[in-house]
Amino acid sequence: MRKKLIAGNWKMNQTKADGLALAKAVFEVASKEKGNFDVLICPGMNLLPLIAELPHEGVYLGAQDVSVAPKDFGAYTGDVSAAQLKDLGASHVIVGHSERRAMRHETDAIVKEKALNAIEKGLIPVVCVGETLEEREEGKALEIVCRQIRESVPSIATGENLVVAYEPVWAIGTGKVPSVQDVEEMHTAIREEIKSLLGESVASTMRILYGGSVKPSNAKELLGVANVDGALIGGASLKVEDFWGIAATQM
Ligand code: PGA
Repeated sequence: MRKKLIAGNWKMNQTKADGLALAKAVFEVASKEKGNFDVLICPGMNLLPLIAELPHEGVYLGAQDVSVAPKDFGAYTGDVSAAQLKDLGASHVIVGHSERRAMRHETDAIVKEKALNAIEKGLIPVVCVGETLEEREEGKALEIVCRQIRESVPSIATGENLVVAYEPVWAIGTGKVPSVQDVEEMHTAIREEIKSLLGESVASTMRILYGGSVKPSNAKELLGVANVDGALIGGASLKVEDFWGIAATQM
């Protein structure tokens, strides 16, 4: 049985004061209202080292990106290595988010390299995939996402060391969500693709999150879809009531 993962992607938000207050609020509610799911928050790099110093039992901490350089240290201005993230206390890192694929021109090859760097340092990459609206309208969504899976997931991936997040680009921050049928079709196709790449036992244990406009009002339905093993939450992770409102649908 795959344990669900409720993950927050805070993106480029918050000052120190706002971010620390939100983290404390999440830690407090998570310590009181335990459910049979894992909780992860991914604050910005301005906050991660500060938040990691707070007691956060039962909540995993992640970064939103990692260096593509396969080095712990070196002349890579602006980069943060997987080893440095691990040293801070992170356990996860988001890689290949569509905002980075689109705005920072990250290719599947780059995403795969980053995922590999993370795994080799003991961090769990949350590898994001997802089609654009145009690709969906052209009937290419499955083909595009399965290609992203094949080319972004490293061959050393297992159900324990890597998480996939399916995030249709057109659903991110828009309030639009795919139909339950479309989510089920895509998550099933992703699991099949993982199976043909890495085998049945990896495929059956790997968590595949859904992301894109998840809210307390739609979480129960989306997280109830076959092969959906949790959520990657952007906007709604910035308010503890909304983030925990989503988690609470799984209690
Ligand atoms: P959203 O973002 O929940 O605001 O749509 C999800 C994401 O980008 O991970």
